[in-house]
Amino acid sequence: AFAEESIGEVRKVDNIAHRGAAGYAPENTIAAFDKAIEMKADYIEMDIQRTKDGELVIIHDTSVDRTTDGSGYIKDLTLNELRSLDAGSWKGTEFAGEKIPTFDEILDKYHGKIGILLELKAPELYPGIEESIAQELKDRHLDKPQNEKMILQSFNFESMKKMNTLLPNVPIGVLTWSKTDTTPQALKEFSAYADYFNPSYGLITEDLVNQVHSQGMKIQSWTVRSQESADFLLEMNVDGIITDYPDYVDPRKE
Ligand code: G3P
Ligand code: CA
Repeated sequence: AFAEESIGEVRKVDNIAHRGAAGYAPENTIAAFDKAIEMKADYIEMDIQRTKDGELVIIHDTSVDRTTDGSGYIKDLTLNELRSLDAGSWKGTEFAGEKIPTFDEILDKYHGKIGILLELKAPELYPGIEESIAQELKDRHLDKPQNEKMILQSFNFESMKKMNTLLPNVPIGVLTWSKTDTTPQALKEFSAYADYFNPSYGLITEDLVNQVHSQGMKIQSWTVRSQESADFLLEMNVDGIITDYPDYVDPRKE
């Protein structure tokens, strides 16, 4: 299902804007996702959680404290309460008034325009969130094989197994920072339900990339915040680079 693209001699690597172009605009906001499009990223990465009243929203931390002018846990706040917060000012006054996006808003605005790498963040805090996400994608007919520029990923492997059962046609990724998840046996087990093995870049070696490929999975690595780490991952031949700075990932510059 995966097309091998190439630019001249250089293999195409997916340029994935982490939480949007989070180096340049407040993470997980429309400003950051629009910036990623402007910078010609292939995908926007984002984190999904659920409000007290059951709405799906896009935010990284399990509380609003760091990235908004409010306080409290996402699971204890209603959508109205979350939407009244300023999610931009912490990054700069020019971003004042940015809001925490809803999943609906993201799909309306971006599906079909740019790939979406959706991370289920701490799904153990939100029992049933897998079913809500699956329903939303089914309602929009985004559960079909041709919609492959949407990938679901999580550090929670049980949650990803469940998503694979609920949405067998949507690609699944497992996230890890742990070396114990890189053994041949672990990779084989992931390959039973995952299409992507997505490790922290500290775990990346040429051998790991080859092993992941030989298990039939692709590999996307995170989080690039320097030109050196982008260059390293390009050298290692990963399939996708998850970066705060999409301009660091451009094989055409090589
Ligand atoms: O996409 C991978 C990366 O986002 C995982 O770490 O903490 O930024 O969600 P985190
Ligand atoms: Ca994430």
